[in-house]
Amino acid sequence: MKVHFTRTLSLVLVAFFGLTTSVILLFLYFEPSILCPSTLADIKSNEDTESDEKPIVLLWFWPLESQDYVKFDMKMCSKHFNVDSCIVTDDRSTYSRAEGVLFYHKEISWSLNNMPQGPRPTFQKWIWYNLESPRNTAKKPGLDNLFNLTLSYRRDAGIVVRNEMKIKKPEMKDDFVLPKKDKLVCWIVSNNNPYTGTNVREKYYRELSQHMKIDVFGVAFTGKRLDFEDYYPTLASCKFYLSFENSLHKDYITEKLNGPLAAGAVPVVIGPTRENYEQFLPNGSFIHVDDFPDAKSMAEFLQHLDKDDEAYMSYFEWRKYYKVTPHLLRVSNEFFHAICLACDHISRDKGYHVVNDLYEWYFT
Ligand SMILES: *[C@@H]1O[C@H](CO)[C@@H](O)[C@H](O)[C@H]1NC(C)=O
Ligand SMILES: *[C@@H]1O[C@H](CO)[C@@H](O)[C@H](O)[C@H]1NC(C)=O
Repeated sequence: MKVHFTRTLSLVLVAFFGLTTSVILLFLYFEPSILCPSTLADIKSNEDTESDEKPIVLLWFWPLESQDYVKFDMKMCSKHFNVDSCIVTDDRSTYSRAEGVLFYHKEISWSLNNMPQGPRPTFQKWIWYNLESPRNTAKKPGLDNLFNLTLSYRRDAGIVVRNEMKIKKPEMKDDFVLPKKDKLVCWIVSNNNPYTGTNVREKYYRELSQHMKIDVFGVAFTGKRLDFEDYYPTLASCKFYLSFENSLHKDYITEKLNGPLAAGAVPVVIGPTRENYEQFLPNGSFIHVDDFPDAKSMAEFLQHLDKDDEAYMSYFEWRKYYKVTPHLLRVSNEFFHAICLACDHISRDKGYHVVNDLYEWYFT
């Protein structure tokens, strides 16, 4: 019995090694690049072997292209977001084969004359790509019945792009140590253009600063952008951070909230309603301006928490069960996160969709 078993085992082993070797030889014979084509050069050289498998997602405009702002390596998706299921390219000659085409709203011209002309392949999905709030989105005409998917921070978008609080595995240890604090309340702000809707937060800041010291950073106050490497350490050194959105809209909760959560500061939020925030994070993880009748009582509450360690620490209870990922800091990262999500979505979504009334959805 035992002899028999050993013989079977060695046969299996021989077969296994034989198979492995031939697979390796097969791979060596072909170019290794067929395994992970993510640049256009790779698409071209492997057209026959690969194009059936990984869909092409074509970035029609670079976001903020007109400001010569954002360009990045197309390999970012696999590098930073673990997305390798499609090919992202900006080469318009792939248009007729692309399964998804991304149009960054700000770059679409008012006459639509910089959009693809002529027939659209029947399998192709046009993706309306916009990360701005309605307040900062221009109502360019002619966009109804044009797109198949939306890519936005909105929870009801076709492809949702957000920094999410995630559930921790139960076995993950809670090793949070409160960072050393030498400031009470901080605010980093670069945009103070009232046209973008910033007047609400500025008014609140002015009122609050009459009752307590607020340490301010960023272009709007100092004329100088806070260095990327100083961002998280600065947040960590403050007990509270003003996560004030530039304009107030449902679901419009940005990296301004993610920053302090990741760094270990308590966010004080201005944005949509508390109820809306509670759809994304536990109620005890942040302080909402609507919790107080005015800035003076907010200031008193923050000063009380400054003295009551136990009450202050309760704002970090959520860390036992949930976690946040620090967002990447350069502006381009915000864009490629969205692009990589679109890429991943296109590789899975085989459905037919039309966005009938884009503005009705977005603006109401
Ligand atoms: C959070 O919600 C729970 C359950 O609804 C409630 O008991 C608790 O008082 C709330 N905490 C805060 C800080 O609002
Ligand atoms: C995409 O939307 C357009 C415009 O409404 C429509 O004609 C086309 O059939 C849709 N295609 C897919 C694949 O959903």
